[in-house]
Amino acid sequence: MGILDGKVTLITGTGGGMGRVAALVFAREGSKIVGCDIQAEANEETVGMVRRAGGDMTGIAPVDLTDAEQVHRLADEAAAAYGGLDVVYNNAALVRFGAMPDFSVEDWNVTVAGELDIPFLVSKYTWPHLVRRGGGVIINIASQAGLIAGATPPMVAHTAANAGVIGMTRQLAVEGAPHHIRAVAISPGPVLTPASDRDLGDNRAARDAVVSKTLLKRFARPEEIVELGAFLASDRASFITGANYPVDGGASAW
Ligand SMILES: NC(=O)c1ccc[n+]([C@@H]2O[C@H](COP(=O)([O-])OP(=O)(O)OC[C@H]3O[C@@H](n4cnc5c(N)ncnc54)[C@H](O)[C@@H]3O)[C@@H](O)[C@H]2O)c1
Repeated sequence: MGILDGKVTLITGTGGGMGRVAALVFAREGSKIVGCDIQAEANEETVGMVRRAGGDMTGIAPVDLTDAEQVHRLADEAAAAYGGLDVVYNNAALVRFGAMPDFSVEDWNVTVAGELDIPFLVSKYTWPHLVRRGGGVIINIASQAGLIAGATPPMVAHTAANAGVIGMTRQLAVEGAPHHIRAVAISPGPVLTPASDRDLGDNRAARDAVVSKTLLKRFARPEEIVELGAFLASDRASFITGANYPVDGGASAW
C-alpha cells in the first residue's frame, strides 16, 4: 500500500534533478506518473527508470512549459493518459543569476517566465481537469529565496519569482477550495541537483557560503524535498492548503 495508490500525478521537469526523483518516489507510493520536460532524451531515461522500478509512467517531451499553447496541449494529453488528474507537481523551472544593476532585462524575463509563468500556466490548464475529477492537489516547488534574500549568487529575479510562487499558491488555495483543490508550496534550501551543480560550478567559496546559511551545514538530497511532496499530495494531508513549507536545513530560521 502506497500513500498515493490510485492517483495520477503530472510532474513537470522529470528530465533530471528533483523532478526525476519525484517521479520515482511518487511511483513508489502508488501514483501513476505523467512526466514532461523540454529535454526529451533525459525524460525518456526517467520513464525507463520508473518502469524498471515497477512503476507506471508516461512521458511527454519535448514540451516548452513557458509556451501557453504547448502547456494547454500537455494538460489535455496528461489528463487523457490515465483518464484524469489528481495531483499537479509544479517542479520545472529555469533560473538566471546575476548582480544588480548588470542583471539584464532579458535575464529577468527568462527567470520570471521560467519560475513564475511555468507553474501559473500548468495550474491554469490542468485546473479544469482537477475540477472534473472532483478535486485534487497542486504542489508548487518554490525556494527559500521566496522567503529570504541571498548574497551568493546574487538573485534578484529568483527572489521575486519565488515570492510570487508562494503568493500564487495562497491564491490558488482560496480559489481552489470550493472545488476541493488544495494548493501547497514547498520552499527548498540548497539541494544537490544538476542545476545547483551547474550554477555553483567548482566555486568552493560559493558552495561554502550557500551551505553556511543552513543550520545543518550541508546541501539537501532531492529525496529530502520530494518525500514531503508525496505526503502533501496524499490524502493524509487533507487539511493542508494555502501553506508554504520551508525544507531548507534551517536557512530561513535565522
Ligand atoms: N536545486 C536547488 O538547490 C533548488 C533550491 C530551491 C528550489 N529549487 C527548485 O526546485 C525545482 C527543481 O530544481 P532542480 O534543481 O531539480 O532543477 P533542474 O534544472 O535539475 O531540473 C529542472 C528540470 O526542468 C526542466 N525545464 C526547465 N525549463 C523547462 C521548460 N521551459 N519546459 C520544460 N521543462 C523545463 C529542465 O530541463 C530540467 O529537467 C525548481 O523549481 C527549482 O527552482 C531548487
